[in-house]
Amino acid sequence: MSTVRVDPENPDPETLQRAAAVLRDGGLVAFPTETVYGLGANALDPAAVERIFRAKGRPSYNPLIAHCPDAVAARELAAGWPDGAERLASAFWPGPMTLVLPKRALVPDIVTAGLPSVALRVPAHPVAHALLEAVRLPLAAPSANRFTELSPTTAAHVVKGLGGRVDLILDGGPTRVGIESTVVDLTGPEPVLLRAGSVSADQIARVLERELRLPGRIDGAVARPSPGMVDRHYAPRAELRVVAADDRAGAGELVRAARRAGRRVGALVRGEPAFEGVETIRLPDEPHGFARELYAALHELDDRGCDLIVVEEVPPGSGWAGVRDRLARAAHRG
Ligand code: TXA
Ligand code: MG
Repeated sequence: MSTVRVDPENPDPETLQRAAAVLRDGGLVAFPTETVYGLGANALDPAAVERIFRAKGRPSYNPLIAHCPDAVAARELAAGWPDGAERLASAFWPGPMTLVLPKRALVPDIVTAGLPSVALRVPAHPVAHALLEAVRLPLAAPSANRFTELSPTTAAHVVKGLGGRVDLILDGGPTRVGIESTVVDLTGPEPVLLRAGSVSADQIARVLERELRLPGRIDGAVARPSPGMVDRHYAPRAELRVVAADDRAGAGELVRAARRAGRRVGALVRGEPAFEGVETIRLPDEPHGFARELYAALHELDDRGCDLIVVEEVPPGSGWAGVRDRLARAAHRG
């Protein structure tokens, strides 16, 4: 395993050729996208894709996203291209948007976990884009973390989580968006939001000129639409508790009880630090800034040895939905 620094705006062509060669040989390359770091392999090579599942400890029922340099290349993997795909691709690609469409036979079953559909994304990050151009293959790339653990927003997070399981890591610095792409399923009669992200349901509905069906609740009461949406996901090692914004007293009691029990406590706050004797990280009070810094803050509190992390709940509304979803999943035990 080696880590190579790349200029995030203007990656060195020789480094990209080296990474492309690793990928053509069936190897694994971790690379920055604008959302999180991806663990890439040649999407058309089932043996290479198998290595992704093994490196992550990811169950084989959980399908991967195929990344492409542009919409033309993405469309070659889809068996259909409805009006909604044209609209969303034009509006949000390249960018943090993944479209689920019927797959063509050339996409191996291991990529899609045997589903008749494939998830497609054209990332905006200059390093991801240049790598896709250099390798001239679609890249299957989940987030570059072990299954259910926190996604990486820096190369150091990738090293911490996957270490020697990766052939090459391209270090392009911290990612800009910070949470995984928005996933929209366009295979049925109505579009379905499978995963909230920085592109909000309201933005998508405006482009489609119709409402989106929202994802099932995460308590399991509603059937899960996407096989990858296991309940506990994107989670730090510490226990994470989301506390009601209007219940500072209850949160204070939770913190004091944990400290009495000898637990090290961390907190993510958007306003004034509220608790005594707690490892506190302040995040921006606005969804894009909060999302950008969220995983790095959780990695940091894990590294500081926190056993419990308290997070004040975020405001209602579609703009915060991606963050709200990640916090709920990280807090879910079971
Ligand atoms: O931002 C991102 O999307 C990052 C970067 C690296 O691109 N990738 C990422 O991949 O988050 P991953 O594998 O961690 O998440 C892929 C999500 C899962 O929830 C999976 O279930 C869903 O996409 N998915 C993939 N293929 C699907 C399909 N055919 N039908 C429904 N859901 C699918
Ligand atoms: Mg993931």
